[in-house]
Amino acid sequence: MPGLKKVYQDMQDFFLPLWPGEDKPLVLGEGKADGPALMLIGEAPGETEVLKRRPFVGKAGKNLDEFLLLAGLDRAEIFVTNAVKIRPTQIGPTGRARNRAPNKEELTLFTPWLMKEIKAVKPRALVTLGGVPLKVLCGPRAQVGALHGQWTESLAGVRLFALYHPASIIYRRSLAPVYEQDVLSLARSLQEKA
Ligand code: URA
Repeated sequence: MPGLKKVYQDMQDFFLPLWPGEDKPLVLGEGKADGPALMLIGEAPGETEVLKRRPFVGKAGKNLDEFLLLAGLDRAEIFVTNAVKIRPTQIGPTGRARNRAPNKEELTLFTPWLMKEIKAVKPRALVTLGGVPLKVLCGPRAQVGALHGQWTESLAGVRLFALYHPASIIYRRSLAPVYEQDVLSLARSLQEKA
């Protein structure tokens, strides 16, 4: 089984020639890369993540800190990554690039690399944030509205706990207590299994 360093090297070699003339740097995962208690998987990096070449910094980093605090975990104990490693953008009305959801082509390109990443990191559990990584790991019919807050089998062969994406709470305030309860029940379940 290739280690994470080799997977990331192969991934860089694969993606480098793909978008000629466009700067689409990869934002790789980081954290405890050998058998962490959990691997947290977001959707895709945003502007700050690309600038810093690190996942979950900037606004999303605040969400991550809140998650860690609620779950009683340390960032250094877990591995953090995204389903798609480039920032998907579209040009907004002001002419500036803004985030969009990853498209089918991006998901198809990145999914095999996510699977290799999981095999190399060997987390004891996966936690997905939002519908995008959940569908990647459990199939296109998986719905975060139905599966959040519970353990599910994943296509990667590692059990998965689905959460709403913390950013979605900004648009749907009613999800805030649901998200909080889900994180607390994840924390309880991890403690029981520890
Ligand atoms: N930043 C990330 O790295 N991932 C997300 O899902 C959102 C913001």
